[in-house]
Amino acid sequence: MTFDSTIRCSQNGLLPSVVCGDCIQVMRQMNDQGVDLVLTDPPYLVNYHDRSGRVVLNDADQTWLKPAFVEAYRVLRNDHFMISFYSWTHADKFLTAWREAGFRAIGHLVFRKQYCSKSRFLGYQHEQAYLLAKGRPKLPAHPIPDVVEMRYSGNQLHPTQKPVSALWPLIQAFTREGDLVLDPFCGSGSTGVAALLTGRNFLGIELDPKYHCVAQNRLARRISAQQSSPFPIRSPF
Ligand SMILES: C[S@@+](CC[C@H](N)C(=O)[O-])C[C@H]1O[C@@H](n2cnc3c(N)ncnc32)[C@H](O)[C@@H]1O
Repeated sequence: MTFDSTIRCSQNGLLPSVVCGDCIQVMRQMNDQGVDLVLTDPPYLVNYHDRSGRVVLNDADQTWLKPAFVEAYRVLRNDHFMISFYSWTHADKFLTAWREAGFRAIGHLVFRKQYCSKSRFLGYQHEQAYLLAKGRPKLPAHPIPDVVEMRYSGNQLHPTQKPVSALWPLIQAFTREGDLVLDPFCGSGSTGVAALLTGRNFLGIELDPKYHCVAQNRLARRISAQQSSPFPIRSPF
């Protein structure tokens, strides 16, 4: 059985699924080209720990970098997109891994924050991601700006939690309703919530059992909220 076949049909598509495990191993069990968009926020390789001692697994280790993106490339459909956050301090390593996997960088997104995550030589006030192509994807019908406002998520569910409001416009621009979005480093499931809010299907993979559980519960709550809503939710904000 492949992981593709574990994603079961619901009323009008697929149920979101979050798998607990190493994304390299999990993706190796997935079929080629079953995914319509990879949207992910991998470890930044900065050995992050917050004031309360929370850590991000694999943040001090880069052995996963190349094999993970080789698998992400394989499971992504031809002529489709990947969007990956990355740390500017290790931009060279991320770009090398993406290019060696076969991706082409076709855009760069800056997420502007109203606060500084750190102040040193500069007030560090943005996050960043690359838009990457497998093959030659069609131009989006409504291109979005490459500067996106990013409000503070509060980091209650995960130490590096991304706000859903910064993710759903990306999903809307680069997929169609019913498409399957994969986040191989899904943390608390923010990408999954954004996928559900925009009527897309979702597969998340998370190594840390604690955040796997958080993501599963979060998506279950989102599904029940949408099921009890009398109106289909399209644009969430
Ligand atoms: C930067 S965090 C993602 C946070 C997420 N965007 C959110 O909003 O909650 C990266 C996540 O990748 C997970 N991770 C690290 N290595 C992994 C691997 N090999 N397979 C799957 N998940 C992994 C970490 O446990 C962490 O939760």
